[in-house]
Amino acid sequence: MNIALIGFGYWGPNVAKNIFANKKLTLHTICDKKQARLDKARNIYIEQCRYETDYQVLLNNPDIHAVAVAVETSAHHQLVKDALKAGKHVYVEKPFTSTVAEAEELTALANSKGLIIHVDHIMMYHPCIRKIQELIASGEIGDLIYIEAMRMNLGQIKKDVSAMADLAVHDLAIIDYLSNGKEPFYIKAVGEKMYNPKESLTFLMLRYDAFIAHIQSSWISPLKERKLIVAGTKKMAVFDDMKPTTEKLTIYDKGVDVIAGTDVEYQDYAVKTRVGDIWIPYIPDQDALFNSIDHFAECIASETPSSSGPEQAIRVLKILEHAEANMNT
Ligand SMILES: NC(=O)c1ccc[n+]([C@@H]2O[C@H](COP(=O)([O-])OP(=O)(O)OC[C@H]3O[C@@H](n4cnc5c(N)ncnc54)[C@H](O)[C@@H]3O)[C@@H](O)[C@H]2O)c1
Repeated sequence: MNIALIGFGYWGPNVAKNIFANKKLTLHTICDKKQARLDKARNIYIEQCRYETDYQVLLNNPDIHAVAVAVETSAHHQLVKDALKAGKHVYVEKPFTSTVAEAEELTALANSKGLIIHVDHIMMYHPCIRKIQELIASGEIGDLIYIEAMRMNLGQIKKDVSAMADLAVHDLAIIDYLSNGKEPFYIKAVGEKMYNPKESLTFLMLRYDAFIAHIQSSWISPLKERKLIVAGTKKMAVFDDMKPTTEKLTIYDKGVDVIAGTDVEYQDYAVKTRVGDIWIPYIPDQDALFNSIDHFAECIASETPSSSGPEQAIRVLKILEHAEANMNT
């Protein structure tokens, strides 16, 4: 299956590399409106694909079956719309679009044409997040109590999105995946518009029926952190994406046990903290971006919707849109 990539800026080269490594796909064309970016691509792939500055040219090419969109978020809507109209399946970087309305419009268009949209909610395809999902599904973690996510570093401050839209989107997709698509009934965010027309630092709080969540997103941090704590009634998982692959995920047999009675009304109970084994599970050495692109290829081949398709992306965007509209209120 021939696929073209639009956007060869910071992230596009990673998408190109993983498309190129995938035997189900052929990297047909790399497109970027900036010639300098195309020259960089040509230095890597030489004669192994074509190069184009005008994306309309590749949309008009019937040999191209799918496009991958890795341009800035504010440009996703127009490009994805044009690609769908041209009959191409679409892989699009996160966040899907800037607004829910845009996402709904593209979803209706894809459905009317029987085309796949895959949003690169990359963390769902990370082997550590998949392992946490397995541990939740098997009951090992117990009932979820809370999820705490931290995604912070110094820069790169983007102008077309807030740090929340750019970073928390990963954590919201993880929560959506781990909770089987649960939606929060309480959404509250505070943020600061430092050095940017949109917030470059946000704290997002969410209440779901059975658990709560807190997500920190920052481009103004002295530390680079990519951390997730998933606390259950039986065990707690800590995912630290800054550690080496074999040490990223740690499972703590720690928690709190009710040890005497259950009659809370009369205080006839006691609680005791439990400290047990600390376990580092085996995690297969897989690239999340490769897995994401591979899932897209499989969805096209089997004509099945993507696990991170528009339905999930719209649930995530609804949270972001509500949080942004009510920021600091
Ligand atoms: N999945 C992840 O972990 C991850 C990480 C970083 C960025 N991203 C996403 O990737 C996307 C791109 O981010 P980036 O940081 O690479 O942006 P960037 O600004 O560095 O690169 C965007 C590139 O797209 C090109 N471009 C824009 N409009 C175009 C058009 N109409 N035709 C052809 N080329 C066009 C630009 O010239 C530029 O080279 C964003 O949606 C971002 O959120 C995802």
